[in-house]
Amino acid sequence: MCGIIAYIGPEEALPRLLEGLKRLEYRGYDSAGVALVDESGIWTRREVGRVAGLVRKAVDPPHATVGIAHTRWATHGGVTLANTHPHMDGPERIAVVHNGIIENMDALKAQLEAEGVEFRSETDTEVLPHLIRRHYKGDPLQAVRSALAHVHGSYGIAVAFAEHPDLLIAARFGSPLVIGLGDGETVLASDPQAIVAHTRRVLYLDDREVALITAEGASVQRLDGGEVDRDVSLIEADYGVADLAGHPHFMSKEIWEQPESLRRCLRGRIQREHGNAKLGGLNMSPRDLVNVREVVTVGCGTAFHAGMVGSMAIEHLARIPARAEVASEFRNRHPIIGPDTLYFAVSQSGETADTLGAIEEIQVKGGQVMGVVNVVGSTIARTCGAGTYVYAGPEIAVASTKAFTSQVTAMLVFTLMLARTRNLSLAQGEGMAEALLTAPDKVSEYLADPGPIDAAVELVKDARYCLFMGRGFSYPVALEGALKLKEITYVPCEAYPAGEMKHGPIAMLEKGTPVIVVAPRGSQRDKVISNIKEVEARGAKCIIIHTQGDEELARLAAVSIPVPDVREFVSPLVTVLPLQLLAYKVGLALGRDIDKPRNLAKSVTVE
Ligand code: G6P
Repeated sequence: MCGIIAYIGPEEALPRLLEGLKRLEYRGYDSAGVALVDESGIWTRREVGRVAGLVRKAVDPPHATVGIAHTRWATHGGVTLANTHPHMDGPERIAVVHNGIIENMDALKAQLEAEGVEFRSETDTEVLPHLIRRHYKGDPLQAVRSALAHVHGSYGIAVAFAEHPDLLIAARFGSPLVIGLGDGETVLASDPQAIVAHTRRVLYLDDREVALITAEGASVQRLDGGEVDRDVSLIEADYGVADLAGHPHFMSKEIWEQPESLRRCLRGRIQREHGNAKLGGLNMSPRDLVNVREVVTVGCGTAFHAGMVGSMAIEHLARIPARAEVASEFRNRHPIIGPDTLYFAVSQSGETADTLGAIEEIQVKGGQVMGVVNVVGSTIARTCGAGTYVYAGPEIAVASTKAFTSQVTAMLVFTLMLARTRNLSLAQGEGMAEALLTAPDKVSEYLADPGPIDAAVELVKDARYCLFMGRGFSYPVALEGALKLKEITYVPCEAYPAGEMKHGPIAMLEKGTPVIVVAPRGSQRDKVISNIKEVEARGAKCIIIHTQGDEELARLAAVSIPVPDVREFVSPLVTVLPLQLLAYKVGLALGRDIDKPRNLAKSVTVE
């Protein structure tokens, strides 16, 4: 979603800002802009579309060593040049970039218009520079503070003042901001990904905080007054600077990285000889685990699907009630929070607004919530205070692939810990530990020979409709496969539990409709065969993901895609792979923008 980058230091700001914007591109956006500050005033360039277009437009800049820049993902107002950030006050002496939503925009705009302010855009953001101007009496920090006292909603902002080319002001409520402390230069960004090239020493801003930023560093204060003594954090050395490493797209790089990302997620966590596991960040003893009566996961999109697999594994193997919830529904329906329930907030970015909202609701009601997060130091990781990192490494493609398998793996490691405190014997625990430890090799084995994906692409790419179906552990995999296909290719599709398919989707089937069936070996396989026969009787062509050596399913398939033989609870880690590749290759065949699909954002930081 929207990205912010700001620079102040000894060097020319423009190339650093444009480079930062490129690093933020992966989050999803539809326009981009930059503002530079020097003694003579504020110079801006803005462009609808890609950062590359802005780069072409941002020529002949003044010499300036301070500036702010933004990638916008439209919420209020269409994708137009006028709505692109930065926005300025009337005299064009104050420039603002903003992530989030100003909820009382209408009231503020009406007041400002009554005072004679003329608006140039339809955005909520534009109220901010005008409001800051109204409160500006020579002290920029005070002006931002006083202006924000009138604002309801969420914001991460960076503000530049023509009168003060030696400083920037940043403030946060609900939209992340991180300040990178370099050597004589300071970089502000909405995402550490835009900072790692400069420095690994960072200050995270918390909600209701404001920072005065200079080339020498930053002083953080509370918005309502009072200093904050914020410790410097270090971005992990293996956070990594994202590059394509020879792949044509980040999505393919991330799919092929999965054996390694899963090994990282498991490293040091499985105790094979005890048939057990340990997730140190949870800080839970077996005694604490025994007291857990129920597990609930919350998340959005792919993270919700990973939560579904995790909760199924917990119910299946630890034999306690578990369920997955969509964060946006959960947070807004005044949920009942069980005192003995353990909640997991699953999130790749650690910044998703609805997941964060769900966490706050759980915490307000006295519940215990742990993060299952990829981005180290992200808001969700810090808000939960405890949890587990999945260590998938930077995921840049908007469509999540390796984060899904790592989230599932982390939840399975937890399942082993929980199940060992219940009815799982040492021998059974050893078996489960072994199945987890060998999963990365099984993923490698599949990726070395992915089967006839191209034949599946031929069936799917021009389809008017496709159906994904599976049962048990394969139902969330079917959901995830359909989500990938929608995200990357825009081919109309949906996923259904195979048993429910007769109650509606079967009406959509006509001669040649592709039906993608996830049917690995296990308790549900035989029942899915009946469903395959039902759809084939209506002319559907089945692409079947099945266990290697399952000749019966291979014979039923129009396209048969074998995957390595693994225990049922591990099967999502291998059955999802052909679905990721199918979406990727259909996207290629249709010429889609694979890493930046239309309308989507990597990290959805608004409700
Ligand atoms: C967006 C992304 C999805 C992601 C979801 C949840 O919709 O495009 O890929 O699954 O947000 O994101 P999170 O960072 O919380 O896992």
